[in-house]
Amino acid sequence: ARHGPLAMVVVGASGDLAKKKTFPAIFSLFYHDLLPDDFVVYGFARRAMSDEAFREMILGTLTCRVIDGARCAERMDAFLPRCFYHMGTYDDPETFATLDAAIVDNFERRLPAGSDPPNRLFYLAVPPSVFAPSAEGVNTAARAKGNGWTRVVVEKPFGRDSASYGVLRSALGAVLSEDEIYRIDHYCGKELVQNLMTLRFANAVFEPIWNRHHIESVQIVFKEPFGVEGRAGYFDNIGIVRDIMQNHLLQVFALLAMEPPVSLHAEDIRNEKVKLLRSVMPLAATDFALGQYEATPEGKPGYTDDEGVPAGSRTPTFASCVLKVNNARWAGVPILIKAGKALDERVAEVRVQFKPVAGDIFGGRPARALANNELVIRVQPDEAIYMRIVSKVPGLTSRMEEARLNLFYRHAWEESKDIPDAYERLILDVIQGEKSLFIRDDEVEIAWDLFTPALQGMEAPDSEVVPDGTPAGSIPSAARLPPDFYS
Ligand code: BG6
Repeated sequence: ARHGPLAMVVVGASGDLAKKKTFPAIFSLFYHDLLPDDFVVYGFARRAMSDEAFREMILGTLTCRVIDGARCAERMDAFLPRCFYHMGTYDDPETFATLDAAIVDNFERRLPAGSDPPNRLFYLAVPPSVFAPSAEGVNTAARAKGNGWTRVVVEKPFGRDSASYGVLRSALGAVLSEDEIYRIDHYCGKELVQNLMTLRFANAVFEPIWNRHHIESVQIVFKEPFGVEGRAGYFDNIGIVRDIMQNHLLQVFALLAMEPPVSLHAEDIRNEKVKLLRSVMPLAATDFALGQYEATPEGKPGYTDDEGVPAGSRTPTFASCVLKVNNARWAGVPILIKAGKALDERVAEVRVQFKPVAGDIFGGRPARALANNELVIRVQPDEAIYMRIVSKVPGLTSRMEEARLNLFYRHAWEESKDIPDAYERLILDVIQGEKSLFIRDDEVEIAWDLFTPALQGMEAPDSEVVPDGTPAGSIPSAARLPPDFYS
């Protein structure tokens, strides 16, 4: 076995996250022979369910990335018998004790003699309000025995501001060591986000120009074409700043803008991210432009039409702001981050705009073709990295046009037909104990410290920073660059 025997417990097994992401990712790792030879999957949740019903439920979620019907069906048949269900209450340590007994009886006790010590991975696919009781249950009653490891995976929201994160942090810290906690930001598992460090530090051409002397501005953009659609119960209390900016976009920013780490070791990388985040100038509510999507005459529903959104909700579904970094590399370079739901398209991308060419031997023609060279890193859809340049049009002409140096993943890599979901990479890394793609406790703390004052400002009853209504499916006027963007 490449790794010791492993019991994976998905706490909150009947929830959305487990069904949409966790089970399919675990199955995909199995499909690709990346799980230990000896493993079991335990679903743990409050409702009563038989093992058969549980297997039916996850069968409905499993998909094969590579369409090979026969192998897929065969792997599903091999996977399902290793899945079991355990009913339990998240805040009752007794139910973690019975879970523990079940794992021992059904799995660990039956391992071949001489096996490595069995390990346990707990994936908390539950709301953050039950992170702490679940972690406590794991600690008191369900840790791996002997020399096996215990690892616990959690995913945002990690609180809703600095204070509530502090409470969560100490509650988890009381029962688990930092080594045992794996905080997921699934954007870190996306292929192009993983590639940021390679692009910057494994190529000689980018690093020398990756600074204020050559870069004019950076944009980090997240757009979704659909609204909250049924998730309003979660979203209305959260808003787009906490849902996307404070975590996903900030992580992309950190990898894009940090200094080169001493090594690829997780602590070295995360030290650099933390250092960068500490260099970002404080943000106030007035630094933000906010929007909220509204119904359109064509019948697209608005945010407040969603069931679960209180009438008159001021929760922003769109936000943009400029990060200013107070360090030698980035001082004076505006870094615009913007995120929104129910906009015109689905895209997540980074745009690095370079300064215009100095001197003008072409009589202004390059600038008419393209004002700035731009490096675009498209995270999704259609993964790509391309540079917008000015080129002479071929033939008996001296005309200049914009052209692209293109790394279009679909054309460049055979492998890109089979890009793993972010969760596959992340769960595999948990099993391997590789922490560089996971968020360290001080990183979350600094991220909250950065956004909390602004959130408090915009959520104050007398706040003047309130979302502008914008028709669903279009870009809010707030998406325009703020007036001081280039100053
Ligand atoms: C989640 C947010 O973290 O990311 C959702 O809670 C959002 O609101 C989702 O839709 C976007 O992820 P992806 O991988 O589809 O870009």
